[in-house]
Amino acid sequence: MIDKNWSRKAVVYHIYPLSFNDSNNDGMGDLEGIIQKLDYLNDGSENSLGVNTVWLSPIYRSPMADFGYDISDYYDIDPIFGDLASFDKLVSEAHKRGIRMIMDFVPNHTSNQHPWFLESRASRTGSKRDWYIWRDPKPDGSPPNNWLSVFGGPAWTLDDKTGQYYHHSFLPEQPDLNWRNPEVKEEMQKVLHFWLHRKVDGFRTDAVYHLVKDGQFRDDPPNPDYDPGKMEPYSSVLHKYSQGRSETLDNLKSFCEVLGLHPDKFIISEAYIDLPELAKMYRACDNNLHAPINFNLMTIPLMAGEFRNFIDKFDSSLPPEKWPNYVLGNHDRPRVATRLGQDRARLAAMIMLTLRGMPFVYYGDELGMENVDIPEEKMLDPWGKRVPGFGLGRDGERTPMQWDGSKNAGFSRSKPWLPTASNYKVRNIETEMKDPRSMLNLFRRLIHYRKKSPALLEGSYHSIDVAGEVFAYVRQCPAEKLLVVANFSATEQNLSLRSETAQVICNTFMDAEYGKEVDTGKLVLRPYEGYVLSFA
Ligand code: GLC
Repeated sequence: MIDKNWSRKAVVYHIYPLSFNDSNNDGMGDLEGIIQKLDYLNDGSENSLGVNTVWLSPIYRSPMADFGYDISDYYDIDPIFGDLASFDKLVSEAHKRGIRMIMDFVPNHTSNQHPWFLESRASRTGSKRDWYIWRDPKPDGSPPNNWLSVFGGPAWTLDDKTGQYYHHSFLPEQPDLNWRNPEVKEEMQKVLHFWLHRKVDGFRTDAVYHLVKDGQFRDDPPNPDYDPGKMEPYSSVLHKYSQGRSETLDNLKSFCEVLGLHPDKFIISEAYIDLPELAKMYRACDNNLHAPINFNLMTIPLMAGEFRNFIDKFDSSLPPEKWPNYVLGNHDRPRVATRLGQDRARLAAMIMLTLRGMPFVYYGDELGMENVDIPEEKMLDPWGKRVPGFGLGRDGERTPMQWDGSKNAGFSRSKPWLPTASNYKVRNIETEMKDPRSMLNLFRRLIHYRKKSPALLEGSYHSIDVAGEVFAYVRQCPAEKLLVVANFSATEQNLSLRSETAQVICNTFMDAEYGKEVDTGKLVLRPYEGYVLSFA
């Protein structure tokens, strides 16, 4: 069904496919496993989680040096996950349940095993040489400039055969494509068409900020605030020339143009940037088919004033045709329940699910899944292995989904590729479904309420002044008015609101009765408690 506005109603569920559900018991998740769990995501009733969009981290053919973010064939599925037929089945089963599918799209780099790179590195004069970024060494043999790889060490690797360095923003196994070459752009447009023809609803573009580099290859300037004891070496320079160039926006436009040729599609892109840059990226595409992902809620301190300040500015900085979005967790950052603790994770989730904009739920965050401590010698993630000592390893937030209390949390009958959390017998979907006060039931309540709520879907947002360490805002449209109050402090807070009668939609502890009438003048919030209230 064509619905040009679906992205405005989307609640995006981010699946890390290796860790979601393993159907063939090889210890790694797969597409058939996801299909088996689609009813959990949305079976059309309020028994399921209720999400209506799924974003899959990469499932393309890959040697898995960066667990799928190193692609060796953009037009096929890695056998770990299944094949094109299982992919088509996943899309059609998802669509039957009203779930849109968004694929990860990795245009910045390929695997070093990709035939394009093999051809590129074979000779200086081959037809694919200029598809990647090759430069001569400096006279002393050192790399062409001081650019660094996000995953540690220089962003250049010398290729002995042809005597030149190639550039990689991430691993040496992930050479960067040359986006100044129009053939690269054309090929990537083909990739988008290929998956759009297979009926995907959109893409999440990886590492977009890295796409274009300085044409003169100037050195990045030193970071005056760099503290080597506390900060990873990548922060020793400001990435002025190696990323974030204005030409990136033209490439985004080229993606939007492709999407515009198919009805009903949407693209979001990964960029860890601040508000002014976000606003620029939002404006890149005239056809409103694109939004940069806003990660700021993961980085600003969990304080009422900080949240209010950021959300007020973000919400008001976008023109009405652009749609905000909010993220609390992903496969690259420690889990929200680990960063904030369970109570504050509930508070943050309540805020995200009641703001104006597209919320992103990282698989397992709806249960309050926590990072699993993985000792350095057992670490698989290349980032953690290459840059030890800074807590950068990402295995901890990628552990198997906790379905039930059976062996391996019901994820697989074989040993999972990453260890299962030790608390899985208590914290799993089966037990949380039954517990009316669980985090899962808070997510379900809010997601289902959101779907029917004109104030949450289309209403305005404005924050209001209340006493204490409390963030409060009103979501309103002609048909409905809601008040959200969130106590960010460890002490009880008396809000001193004007006395009015309101009905409880939910509180974060899920122990207030749905529909119960309360007097807002007498509302007292427990530590880290939040409420959603409705004015009839
Ligand atoms: C993005 C992905 C991350 C990956 C990196 C390189 O940041 O989210 O998981 O390692 O790009 O592709």
